[in-house]
Amino acid sequence: MLGGGAERIERQHAAGKLTARERLDLLLDPGSFVELDAFVSSRSADTPSDDEANLGDGVVTGYGQLLGRTVFVFSQDFTVLGGSLSEAYAAKICKVMDLAMEVGAPIVGLNDSGGARIQDGVAALGGYADIFLRNVRASGVVPQVSLVLGPCAGGAVYSPAITDFTVMVEGTSHMFVTGPAVVEAVTHETVDAERLGGASTHTARSGVAHLAARDESQAFDFARRILGFLPQNNLADAPRVVSNDPSDRRDLELDSIVPDDPSTPYDMGDVIRRVVDDADFLEIQPAWAGNILVGFARLGGRSVGIIAQQPAVLAGVLDINSSIKAARFVRTCDAFNVPLVTFVDVPGFLPGTAQEDGGIIRHGAKLLYAYCEATVPKLTVITRKAYGGAYDVMSSKHIGGDMNLAWPAAEIAVMGAAGAVEVLHRERLASSTESDADRAQLVADYEAQFSNPYIAAGRGYIDAVIMPSETRPRLISALEMLADKRAENPRKKHGNIPL
Ligand code: HXC
Repeated sequence: MLGGGAERIERQHAAGKLTARERLDLLLDPGSFVELDAFVSSRSADTPSDDEANLGDGVVTGYGQLLGRTVFVFSQDFTVLGGSLSEAYAAKICKVMDLAMEVGAPIVGLNDSGGARIQDGVAALGGYADIFLRNVRASGVVPQVSLVLGPCAGGAVYSPAITDFTVMVEGTSHMFVTGPAVVEAVTHETVDAERLGGASTHTARSGVAHLAARDESQAFDFARRILGFLPQNNLADAPRVVSNDPSDRRDLELDSIVPDDPSTPYDMGDVIRRVVDDADFLEIQPAWAGNILVGFARLGGRSVGIIAQQPAVLAGVLDINSSIKAARFVRTCDAFNVPLVTFVDVPGFLPGTAQEDGGIIRHGAKLLYAYCEATVPKLTVITRKAYGGAYDVMSSKHIGGDMNLAWPAAEIAVMGAAGAVEVLHRERLASSTESDADRAQLVADYEAQFSNPYIAAGRGYIDAVIMPSETRPRLISALEMLADKRAENPRKKHGNIPL
């Protein structure tokens, strides 16, 4: 018998969820799954190990092919004791994680569990810790993807939290450190599971999860899409695909995409799709910190990680959440040898007490740190504004940008013209009888002198000022030129990124 029996399987289906094995069939290339440890049963005297329903002890583990490449998997079986994690169950997961590390292949975890098995007591807690340790050791060595397909509660959340990508399913998956009943008892806050830890909470409010799938099938699709952009491990390159999109394609619409008025927004997502292969951009964390866009695409068949301000949301300003979102993505790409392509249109860091109280200095530093530390090829395109500290942070030449391009209307300056004129000419403007006309002239003078890309280009901080329609061929050429880039940071135990 497979899993916890017909009745429990029926209940699983009635709840809108698939079984552990059905999920693996849908995730992996057809017929490729090879199961390990199917006969492992509970080590606890309190769990009947001779019960056929408990064979495998609540988790299905093994390996298979995903897009033709080996991946290791574990799939928690909610029909067996609520998918709760025992000592033996944890050992099964650890075995596939160890194998994945040895052979250098990704790990995909399918989570659907009531947490630590109560009957196993501290041995279950120890089992979780054994998994956490392996999650951390595997971090930056092999890609780890977590699919949350049911409950994932208590300390169990920290395994997905350590992995590279977490995908949730709308309506059926929940992650929280403590469930609604305990929240109410302890804090008197009344909240349901969906609000506390559903997919929209974690993709739109907390930023804990990266993608919300409408159903399990789409969650598997997301996992395949993500892994398709990544190499098998940190010593390999991402697979290069054959692209039918011509490398020399020039999209003339780009030449008029940035409005003349510097404060009129436009959609950077549109810019990205016009530049990358086949307009195919897999946006990561689309529902959170929308003032920055991150995601995977290809250029000339090569995987790239894209980071881009979104002028259509909060004018593309850098704030706490957008800094955290982009910093994490930069580090993920760098760990797995995926070049970075950064599109810059940034008015600066968001000022004010809310941001200062929240630690914008510490969080903004994460993004700066991540870019400085990254040794993969770094390509930068300034489409419009690059003001102040944000100019430095956004993959500037000074912090290791390998190819820094600017569109002709780019404004690279310490601050925008309006603010600069107030600082430089405060007294004159205060005493001027025609201060409006005076201010307009001063702004125009400042813009002519400072708000353009040519001063930076004159110093070599910008490698070339290009027509926007040239962006795709220039980026593809730069990636080709940088394909064998070698760069290393100084030897150290590890850096001390401000967390
Ligand atoms: C043993 C468990 C279990 C658990 C569920 N079951 N959780 N058995 N240990 N942790 C069993 C149930 O007894 C039941 O068995 C079957 O699984 C299905 O559970 P139901 O409650 O009937 O299902 P449902 O109504 O869908 O509710 C699912 C649930 C609920 C929300 C997950 O079961 C639940 O709240 N479980 C406890 C969750 C929890 O607090 N876990 C500890 C979290 S802390 P029968 O035989 O009756 O069908 C934690 C620490 C991690 O995990 C430590 C890391 C450091």
